[in-house]
Amino acid sequence: MTAAKPFTAASYKLCVADLNFFYGDFQALSHISMGIFANQVTACIGPSGCGKSTFLRTLNRMNETVRNSRVEGQILLDDVNIFEQEVAYVRRRVGMVFQRSNPFPKSIFDNIAYGPRINGTVSNRVELREKVEQSLRRAALWDEVKDKLNESAYGLSGGQQQRLCIARALAVDPEVLLLDEPCSALDPIATAKIEDLIFQLKSSCTIVIVTHNMQQAARVADYTGFFLLGRLIEFDRTAVIFKNPAKQETEDYVTGRFG
Ligand SMILES: Nc1ncnc2c1ncn2[C@@H]1O[C@H](COP(=O)(O)OP(=O)(O)O)[C@@H](O)[C@H]1O
Ligand SMILES: [Mg+2]
Repeated sequence: MTAAKPFTAASYKLCVADLNFFYGDFQALSHISMGIFANQVTACIGPSGCGKSTFLRTLNRMNETVRNSRVEGQILLDDVNIFEQEVAYVRRRVGMVFQRSNPFPKSIFDNIAYGPRINGTVSNRVELREKVEQSLRRAALWDEVKDKLNESAYGLSGGQQQRLCIARALAVDPEVLLLDEPCSALDPIATAKIEDLIFQLKSSCTIVIVTHNMQQAARVADYTGFFLLGRLIEFDRTAVIFKNPAKQETEDYVTGRFG
């Protein structure tokens, strides 16, 4: 039997400390502190509008593009504050996939090659092809697209497009992958494929997923945070959050009494 990982700073990939986030005068996140464990899946759940996407987007500084927004607090990525790093560097280490798949109007190959090309992480055509294949394999899409790499990404199904977006994010070898409701537009079979993929990816990545689907959180996540009105009400192992939460608000939410 392996012992449960202890709650030590060393096992955190990301460490969020007293994070506040404001859209103008509106405070969307209040005093969030949370340790995100390396090579684990962490889910963020909570009712619509509680700040899940805002939280996820602060983890790679994507929210800073919003006018009049302001962030306070610290987010350590391997013990270095991301707010003191170059934004492009942070976003390469912390990749993101959105709710609606958003392939570029390019070929399948060029979608995946985009990141390695602009980041200069490959030095020649052969390496680029290898990176594209490796990324598509990691996203469990290679077998379905290997004979049509030069066709438009728009020809793929919704579920394939979402895996393409995951492959595109993986192509620059991020250490953390942020997924914002990646299955909300997908049917149950495509959803199951993404969930399998999340399970496989955590050996090479740290994953943070926002989901409004509590069954999905229960299936894929090792840890779950419950958000309400911009606050993190409770954070624990997923089984604790769903079966034995400490807070009444968490219990009310996971048992479906509101939401
Ligand atoms: N760009 C924005 N400008 C102003 N307010 C925003 C913006 N994006 C989100 N909000 C507000 O912040 C709150 C949290 O939103 P969000 O993080 O999208 O919640 P969730 O993902 O949990 O549904 C909501 O009240 C929302 O209206
Ligand atoms: Mg959201």
